[in-house]
Parts: sequence; structure tokens; C-alpha cells
Amino acid sequence: MGDQQCQERSYLSLKIYPPHSFSQKALIDTQQKYKALYKESIDNPELFWGKVAQEIDWFKPWEKTSNGELIHPQWFCGGSLNVSYNCLDRHLKGNRKSKRALVWEGENGESLTYSYEELTKEVCITANVLKKHGVGKSDTVVIYMPLIPQAIITMLACARIGAIHNVVFAGFSSKSLLERILDSGARLIVTADGGFRRGKIIPLKTRVDEAASLSNQIKKVLVFKRTGSAVQMIEGRDYWMEKERAGVEEFCDPAVLDSEQPLFILYTSGTTGKPKGIVHSSGGYLVQTAFSTKMIFDLKEEDLYWCTADIGWITGHSYVVYGPLANGASIFIYEGAPDFPSFDRFWQLIEKYKITIFYTSPTAIRAFIKWGLQWIANHDLSSLRLLGSVGEPINPEVWMWFYRHVGKEKCPIVDTWWQTETGSILISPLPGATPMKPGSATFPFFGISPEVVDEQGNPLPPGRNGFLVIKGPWPSMFRGIYKDENNYKKIYFSRIPGVYFTGDGAYKDEEGYFWITGRIDDVINVSGHRIGSAEVENALVSHPAVAEAAVVGIPDPYKGEALIAFITLKEGYLASTELVQVLKDHVVKEIGSLARPQEIRFLDTLPKTRSGKIVRRLLKEVSLQGRITGDTTTLEDSQFIDKIGKI
Ligand code: PRX
Repeated sequence: MGDQQCQERSYLSLKIYPPHSFSQKALIDTQQKYKALYKESIDNPELFWGKVAQEIDWFKPWEKTSNGELIHPQWFCGGSLNVSYNCLDRHLKGNRKSKRALVWEGENGESLTYSYEELTKEVCITANVLKKHGVGKSDTVVIYMPLIPQAIITMLACARIGAIHNVVFAGFSSKSLLERILDSGARLIVTADGGFRRGKIIPLKTRVDEAASLSNQIKKVLVFKRTGSAVQMIEGRDYWMEKERAGVEEFCDPAVLDSEQPLFILYTSGTTGKPKGIVHSSGGYLVQTAFSTKMIFDLKEEDLYWCTADIGWITGHSYVVYGPLANGASIFIYEGAPDFPSFDRFWQLIEKYKITIFYTSPTAIRAFIKWGLQWIANHDLSSLRLLGSVGEPINPEVWMWFYRHVGKEKCPIVDTWWQTETGSILISPLPGATPMKPGSATFPFFGISPEVVDEQGNPLPPGRNGFLVIKGPWPSMFRGIYKDENNYKKIYFSRIPGVYFTGDGAYKDEEGYFWITGRIDDVINVSGHRIGSAEVENALVSHPAVAEAAVVGIPDPYKGEALIAFITLKEGYLASTELVQVLKDHVVKEIGSLARPQEIRFLDTLPKTRSGKIVRRLLKEVSLQGRITGDTTTLEDSQFIDKIGKI
């Protein structure tokens, strides 16, 4: 066993208690209190969530806490509210009018601060512009923007008028953008002329033009100015936001919306070749994101909270925008990458703005480790009091580095497990109460009953790896896959009836700590981003040279997992390093740079079952070990094993 492995093993038995100084001031300060409240939440979920829901403002109180259903759940039935009102207006009544709501720094060093009063005004103006352009309740609006305040303002503006936002990550290609526009039925897109990334300009408006040219569904494009780069504006379709906002009212009444009114659709990768439009509600979603933010990040009035996620992902929705703003917190956002113009960009920002809570991903931390301690050493990070991790399993060693070198052993780390579908964090430590084990997401959040089960749904004893499932509904659970009822039921509720199937593997240890081991389906987690094998395979097969493709994920020291593509070529094409480059570029053009395969390997045949399904498992084994150990009796071409052994 290597030194590193030895060390990893020794970390596994480590237990780190929350620092006393932290617990003293924490909302939940002992494990006993957590356990008591957890029991209450499980014994009587209706009563528990009913109490929690009183922390947000309702225009009309709900009549029934929930319909009790796991499939198509409804929460706070009959109640009406407005999510933007809860994130903005209600704070103006108290003493948060001039409190910082949003602090932003651009990659080029520009900076902006909005108080709650200013943010409310901007949201109202944008909402009125949307209305002026015909957007109404339940219309879908695509948001394709860099991480600038206007992106968040537009999300909240949609929420204000009951429009459903569909945020598309700015790293996605025009094709991926088009796919999401078409599926969600959006007729209006809000974008920017571009965004800055590592000194370059991401041509967002140009990509919108490309997408729009392939469909006549898109009737209007509203454009914020960010980079000042020249863009084409089509008369009658494209409008500059700066011009549009002039002359609209500065206040917009928040729409009174049913608790179950969809707040947003967010596309995420699954096992099919097509991304799934995950639909979230208003009431249940807001109640649980607000409550979990308050408890898991132990929010205090003076905090400046930085979650480094982009708004294109669920973390950006729940823990950049809705959860923190519903609590009246001050949030910080940064437009750029952590390594530009230098490797200490994040530490500069923490020092400059005196960030107190820093929530990021294992991939980012692994990059910090690679760049070296010298980048961190000269920065004063003493403002930090709490750290968080999300998106992928965090290796114990990486956890320890984060704890020691960023948190200086005085900040608890909340390793938060959840998914786009769950809406909010389901498994996590409570920072003032939970003894932490590096690499474990620890215990379930209030109201959540996870279990590790076998293929038949039987609970497994400690230490045995199985499927992670969740028993019973929770308020922020997704309400469906947009226009895809079949897959909604099939993917999440069929394999093991009566529970929500997460698609993750996990085990519980003797003390009940949950350890997430990663996806058990054909979803690959690259740098915390979910990528479906089938999506990348479809992209590869759309190239004229490719006959068949199979994509697998293998462990990567920096990205968590890396994509390896195996392909067979059509007649007349020859394998070459040039073709490898061409195919990688092709995937980037089809999906976006996050799906670029790390390696492309050519084969003359792919391993298939007798029914014609490609056996990715074997390819993964080959990539990992250079040999095959699994069951191969159902393979169609037994010679394949000999062939693949030689590549
Ligand atoms: O495999 C799990 C992993 O990320 C998946 C969910 O991805 P997504 O819907 O994009 O949401 C990411 C942000 C919540 C999960 O199925 N995952 C997320 N958080 C963790 C994690 N794996 C281990 N530990 C975590 N803390």
C-alpha cells in the first residue's frame, strides 16, 4: 500500500469535533439536540414542516401540510406565496433595507454592491420589462448568462411574475442551449453580449443567435451589456435591456401564486441521451431551501456568504440565490475562474471582502492543493468561520487539507450531499453539533430518512455498500421531469418500489454515518458536473467518422472522474492523433467544454451483450486495470476480450 493510501485509511477512523468557539454560538450546538429534533421531524413530519413553513411569508395560509405522496408530492396545499417577495420585500420591512443583499466582483476586478432595497428595485424593473415583452404566469424564460448580478435579478424577476425560469449554464454550447429551449417551450431568452472567463470573452449572444437560427420558437432575446463586444442585434427580436428598462415602473406587484406553482425547470444529465428537465415547486422548495440554509450554514446576520457555484446548476439556485436571500443573508458572487489571473484569486477575494462562509467543490479544493500552499500563505483568511463542500465525494485527504489550510482548524466543514432532484441538502453535518468524519456526509437533515439497501430494497448492515434511497417525501423534492412522466416514474420510483431511488451508491458505518461512494448508473461526475455517458456517445456518433461509441468514467485525481471514449470508425476513416483532436473538439461543439473526453481510444469492435447493448462496465475495467475480471458470458463477441487486452 502506498503512503497516500495509508494516510487515507488512517483519516477514515478520524473524528473531528466542532470547535467549541463555533458550537457556543451555533443554532444547534449539541448532537443530542440534533437527535431530539430529528426524531421529532421523523415521528411527525406534518407537524414539523408545518412549523418550519411559518418562517416564510404566505399571502394565504396552506390548508393541508402535504398530500403525503412520494410520487407527485404536494406541500402546503392551498397556500399562496411569492418567492421573490420572500427573498426581497419582506426584508425591507425590518432593518435589512440597507443591508447588503448581493456583493459581486467581476473577473476584470469591477465590483458592485446591492442593498436589499436596491435589489428589490432592480428585480421589479426587470420583471416589468419581462411583462412588457409579453411574459406572464407559467411562461418559460431561458436565462443564459455569465455570473453577474443581472442573472440573479432575472431569476427573481421571473419568480416575481410567476414565470418559470430555465437557467442554462453559460458553458453549454448553442446546441445544448437549443435542446433546452425547445424542450422547455421558451419563447424568450435573457442573455448578455458575453461573459469574461480567463481573460477571454464567452460569446453568449452569438451562441443564442446560432440556436435561434435553428428554430422559429424563439421570438425575443433580451440582452444585458457585460463585455461591450460587438454583437448582432436583429430588429424586432433582440432588445438591449438598458433601453428596455427606461420608462418602466420601478415597482412590480409580486404575483400571488399557488404553493405548487413551478418556480423553475433545470436540466440535468441522466442515463438517457437526453437531459431531463427537473421541475421544482414554489412553496415546498422555498420552505426547505430557506430552512436548510439557515441550519446547515448556521447563518448569522453579519455573515458574508460565498457559494462558488454558478447559477447554471442546482447549487446556484438553492444555495446562491433562494436559500440565502430568503434568510436575508448577504451573498457574494464572483464571475471568473479561481486561477485567473493568478492562483490566489479566491484567497484575495476572501481577504478583501472578509467572507465568513465559503462553500465550494472538491474539484476546486483539489486544484488548490495542486497549485500549492504558497498561493494561500500570504492571505489573511481569518474572517472565515465555516466551510462547505458539495457535488462529489470528497477524499478524506482533500477534506483534511481544506480543514487545515483554509479553515486553520477552527472552521467546521459541512460536506453536503444532495441532487438537482432533491432541491435541497439531504445529508450533512450541522456545523455546531455533528462530530465530523473526513469524507463522510455524516447524518440526515431534519425530516429526511435515507437508507442503504440491496437490489430488493432490504436495508443493509453497516459497512455493506448498496443503493442510497430516501423513504418518504420531503417539501423541496422535485415535482417531475418536464413533459416526461414515464421516465419520472421509471427512473426514480420503479427499481425499488416505495422509495426515492437516488442513483448513488453508499454505505453506513457502525455509528450510522453515511459514506457516499458515487453514481451507480451511467452518469459520470466530472468536476462535480453530471454528464450522461449516452449524451457524449450521441455527440461522438454525430460525427461522420464515428460508427459507434461507448463512454465511461474513471477516477481522476483532480476532476473526481474523467471521461474515456471508446469508438469504432466508419469505413474509410483511419485512427490518428489529428482525428482524436477533431473528435474532442466536436464534443465540445455539440455539448460544451465540460464534456470534452480526456482520452479517445479506437477499437474495431465494442463489447456487446447478445441483445446488442454495449457493456460499458467492461470498458471501464479495461481502462482501470488493463484487463477484464467481470462476468463476460453474455457477450456477443468473445474475441473482444482478446482484442481489447491489446489496445
Ligand atoms: O453523485 C452525487 C453527487 O452529485 C450528484 C448530484 O449531482 P447534481 O444533481 O448535479 O447536484 C450537484 C449538487 C448538489 C449526486 O447524485 N454528490 C453531490 N454532493 C455530494 C455528492 N457525492 C458525494 N458527496 C457529496 N457531498
